[in-house]
Amino acid sequence: MVTLIAGSQWGDEGKGKLVDLLSQNMDIVARYQGGANAGHTIVLGDKQYILHLIPSGILSPNTKCVIGNGVALDPVALINEIKMLAEHNISVEGRLFISHKAHLIMPYHKLIDQASESFKGNMSIGTTGRGIGPAYIDKSKRSGIRIVDLLDRDSLAKKIKDNLDEKNLLITRVYENKALDSDQIISEYLEFDKLLDPYIKDTTYLLNRAIKEGKNLLLEGAQGALLDLDHGTYPFVTSSNPTSGGACTGLGLPPTAIDRIIGVVKAYCTRVGNGPFPTEQDNEAGQKLRDIGNEYGATTGRPRRCGWLDLVALKYSVMINGISEIALTKLDVLDSFDEIKVCYEYDLNGKRICTFPSDIPTLNAIKPIYKTLSGWGRSLKGIKEKKDFPKEALNFFELIEEYSEAKIKIVSISPDRNDTIIF
Ligand code: GDP
Ligand code: IMO
Ligand code: MG
Repeated sequence: MVTLIAGSQWGDEGKGKLVDLLSQNMDIVARYQGGANAGHTIVLGDKQYILHLIPSGILSPNTKCVIGNGVALDPVALINEIKMLAEHNISVEGRLFISHKAHLIMPYHKLIDQASESFKGNMSIGTTGRGIGPAYIDKSKRSGIRIVDLLDRDSLAKKIKDNLDEKNLLITRVYENKALDSDQIISEYLEFDKLLDPYIKDTTYLLNRAIKEGKNLLLEGAQGALLDLDHGTYPFVTSSNPTSGGACTGLGLPPTAIDRIIGVVKAYCTRVGNGPFPTEQDNEAGQKLRDIGNEYGATTGRPRRCGWLDLVALKYSVMINGISEIALTKLDVLDSFDEIKVCYEYDLNGKRICTFPSDIPTLNAIKPIYKTLSGWGRSLKGIKEKKDFPKEALNFFELIEEYSEAKIKIVSISPDRNDTIIF
């Protein structure tokens, strides 16, 4: 059985918690795109883990984890994460496998990402500065350096030199920064090779064989549908495909291999970085969501922009991902709200629309139309079954299901694994 978990909004929906929870019954968890731009927070008892690159399945001792070819892998971030896990007595030995086809994030990618953002000034995307865009540019440009390149010293050195011949011109002449030294990068990456070598594998065969053997696989997406390079709020997006299709290209699996697609939906919306956000509440309600939901980026610490749930965007996300099941998270954050707003349509110059626009001017012009629901005004703590939810929460679920055309199957009411209700 192959299950896929994808973010349905602008990331930070609580994918990490869900992946960790479901991993306990999985043989393999495989990350298919993005890189250390992701920040997945997992709370286990009194411990909190923040994972950027390693799949959130790593906390389940019997689960193997794969970093797929679609991931842009920063060796520095990976090594730090392996160390962090070791400090918590979690070993990745024999459990972590990295695709030899994954592209490497290089020091010049991070430098160019950050310099290009400053260069754009108030037109910046608000990236995480982790080198993601420039690494995927090189992948598309066919000048990227892959994990497999680490195995051949001479060719690695040549590729790094060739890249720097071009990048250093950009770095010095356009961005007015100091040129990078190729010898230093070459020796640094040869050291990384020694550390990463035990994990490198042909993960395409590993995963396809596991499926043939009837194993349980969980495919883990980072970011969210509205940050998708093709389907999100372009150009304010990330440079990969977090939507379910990205799992096929990012792991080398056929679409027919995927049995179940779970969309993680936060009970309200957040966004980090710039770009349109129709239901944003830049006011007291937004601040309240931020405070109660602790909405600060796990990777950059930036305050997340907050707003009400957007069912037009969710319905779009359900459509492009093929989401059949919703995991609704952070419902508890709404406990103390007297009224909960939910956007179900947009007004575009006096006309009602219920499709998610694809261009920035239209996204900026639309005005959300809300339904206002009564809040439940009490803590949801201790709820174990669907029937125990207050009727106001059940009304909220019904509205989400009606408009999104997907069923809620999981509800999360705290960061803890145990506070999850399965319907
Ligand atoms: P991800 O990027 O989708 O994995 O999400 P993040 O980890 O960046 O952000 C979600 C945050 O909400 C984390 O700090 C989680 O510990 C926390 N969280 C997850 N589910 C719940 C929930 O149901 N209630 C509350 N209050 N917090 C949650
Ligand atoms: P998880 O997996 C939320 C956002 C950045 C920026 C845009 C492009 O934790 O949900 P990038 O560095 O990818 O080039 O930045 O994408 N972004 C995220 N926002 N959660 C994430 O990951 C994100 N990863 C990138 O803030 O707006
Ligand atoms: Mg996150």
